[in-house]
Amino acid sequence: MKRGRILSGMRPTGRLHLGNYVGALENWVRLQNEGWDNFHMVADWHMLTTGYEHTAGLQDDIFDMVVDWLAAGLDPEKSVIFVQSAVKEHAELHLLFSMLVSKARLERIPTLKEQIRDLHLDEQTISYGHLGYSVLQAADILLYRATHVPVGEDQVPHVELTREIARRFNFLYCQDAPAVFPEPEAQLTNFARLRGLDGKRMSKSVGNTILLTDEAKDVEAKVRQAYTDPKKIRANDPGRPEADPSDGHEGCVVWEYHRKFNPGDGEEQAEGIARRCRAGQLACVPNKRHLTQILNDALEPIRERRRRWLADPDAVHDVIAHGNERARAEAQFTMEQVREAMGLAPSGKGVR
Ligand code: TRP
Repeated sequence: MKRGRILSGMRPTGRLHLGNYVGALENWVRLQNEGWDNFHMVADWHMLTTGYEHTAGLQDDIFDMVVDWLAAGLDPEKSVIFVQSAVKEHAELHLLFSMLVSKARLERIPTLKEQIRDLHLDEQTISYGHLGYSVLQAADILLYRATHVPVGEDQVPHVELTREIARRFNFLYCQDAPAVFPEPEAQLTNFARLRGLDGKRMSKSVGNTILLTDEAKDVEAKVRQAYTDPKKIRANDPGRPEADPSDGHEGCVVWEYHRKFNPGDGEEQAEGIARRCRAGQLACVPNKRHLTQILNDALEPIRERRRRWLADPDAVHDVIAHGNERARAEAQFTMEQVREAMGLAPSGKGVR
């Protein structure tokens, strides 16, 4: 008996970084190994909401992201790995759900507002598809009757809408019958958001990330540039691991990464580092070298799995094809219930 069904996904927008790893992948792999029924989706249709003009590299991006997932430890024997656009039922359910949600409700979704702001979009020219982003996400989740959605804080508004849609559907169409949809819960990843190496928000376009595909020497070069206490100039100056608002110091990123990635009892080891730093007994250069070692040790098993998968790219395509098939079977089952409940099944048996 599985503990519950999980659905989560990512848009294929490029190589994954350590933030994606600690924010999502590491958690997916843990859940997969703790007896959950995992479904993981490449949200290529969602990518179109903002990237519809740039689709030339899409198939490569999908492949690369799945390789990143497999390298991180997703196991296709345990987790269903699939591509949204390969399961057309997402489009059908999205359309049906679109009748149950008001335009005003969608315009209130904070994630959409943030995108409009961050991408400098014009509210008046936002596309119909983009406005429906969350409706598509609700279809993704409910198509598999997922009970839990492991996501970051930023995705909670989408899950909230998903719950509303599930409730509304069940209320409208399942009055005298068992509910078709569970009300899924967001399962927040409990980690403090990892900052970029420059101390700013981690972002691929800024280039302040460590990619899962970075080689050991790339990691070394990037960590060497990482933000530390700007007032710690000489090796034996005392340093400030934590933020100090008095002069705008945002906290030492190297220390933050030590806390997150020190193996075993990370916090305790990181405390020792902080103590020596504050006492002026630890210079940044060797401390960065130490962090480089730790990160490379953490990345090595990921690199190793990547090498094995990339030695046989057909095997990756097989994983996707097989995952698509398993996803489709689930999706078709759900759609039969949906059409039946809504009175859309002509024979009363869900025949199409
Ligand atoms: N919106 C998610 C993101 O940008 C991607 C996504 C699409 C998703 N469908 C989903 C996440 C369903 C969880 C469940 O990261």
